[in-house]
Amino acid sequence: MPIKTVSKSQKVGKEDILFQTTPPEEERIITSLRASTWDEFYGQPAAKKSLAIAIQAAKKRKEPLEHILLYGPPGLGKTTLAHLIGHEMSVNVRITSGPAIERAGDLAAILTNLAPNDILFIDEIHRLNKVVEETLYPAMEDFALDIVIGKGPSARTLRLDLPPVTIIGATTRAGLLSSPMRDRFGVIERLSFYQIDDLEKIIERAAKKLGISIHAKAKKELALRSRGTPRIALRLLKRSRDVAEIAEQKEITDDIIVQALTLLGIDSAGLDTSDRRLLTTVIEKYNGGPIGIETLAAALSEDIDTVEGILEPYLMQLGFLKRTPRGRFVTVNAYHHLGLQAPKRILDNLT
Ligand SMILES: Nc1ncnc2c1ncn2[C@@H]1O[C@H](COP(=O)(O)OP(=O)(O)OP(=O)(O)O)[C@@H](O)[C@H]1O
Ligand SMILES: [Mg+2]
Repeated sequence: MPIKTVSKSQKVGKEDILFQTTPPEEERIITSLRASTWDEFYGQPAAKKSLAIAIQAAKKRKEPLEHILLYGPPGLGKTTLAHLIGHEMSVNVRITSGPAIERAGDLAAILTNLAPNDILFIDEIHRLNKVVEETLYPAMEDFALDIVIGKGPSARTLRLDLPPVTIIGATTRAGLLSSPMRDRFGVIERLSFYQIDDLEKIIERAAKKLGISIHAKAKKELALRSRGTPRIALRLLKRSRDVAEIAEQKEITDDIIVQALTLLGIDSAGLDTSDRRLLTTVIEKYNGGPIGIETLAAALSEDIDTVEGILEPYLMQLGFLKRTPRGRFVTVNAYHHLGLQAPKRILDNLT
């Protein structure tokens, strides 16, 4: 069955209740490279296995799939997985996001327009407002909506039956989800950063789709510098293709990759300027830490969400940054990566 993405022009009632931003050219290409079958979705073996079991069980019972929560850093494939799950279940997938559903009525309009067994994908589900979130609870538990009609003493609640549907929630910040919300998901899967060989497979497949040839060494170099993230791997591949074209080279060699990544300011560990700025800020202004998240975010002029959800996970994965109850520390490895001498205090902290 087709996957339905409701665009801004399609309206339910008077309001736009679902949104889809028009992706810029690059995003469009990356979206066109989206894994379109279960087998093309490489890596994440644990998540794939448990989802496959849930899908099989639901099909066997001829019931809608359990509600699923996918969480993990951006670009690891949450949206792609939601589409693939819909494909496997042969149902429609409707896409919306936490901040797009402003009022309980918006949610009611979305839910009542779904067919039985359909999937509603709610991206950034941690950003649903409280009222909408509470309207979602009975929808998930009993496939019903409690709607308040009227105001004051004459107000009454009306229970509206809904088609049985599956909610797939995605978030980069599972910690911000309330526990009643989390408890309503039958399957909770964390996506983790990808292994190099899985990234290589993703790059290989995308290069084929783009009709370009890439050397084995170049593929590896690209994978190593992609922060364990397919979306970044695809973006870098596209940039490298541009560089190859300008250099009038038919193939992407490791030399091309190095040129492209140097242009983009991405270093050998895959860190970009924002990552390095975080590390150097902690090192130069706070002597390597500890520094609290609020102070760090303010020093970087970033919001806490961005620092915690986007910048820190990969730095921690590399072992360049540590979160402790006293605050964030930069590790000896980070000093070395930046070509700096770690102060004795930091060296002692490790031992
Ligand atoms: N395991 C995978 N195999 C192949 N391609 C993948 C895989 N995971 C992600 N991709 C590709 O990476 C791109 C980004 O994935 P996707 O948009 O699903 O990430 P996301 O987790 O939803 O990110 P965000 O949190 O930013 O919304 C897509 O083009 C997708 O096809
Ligand atoms: Mg997404």
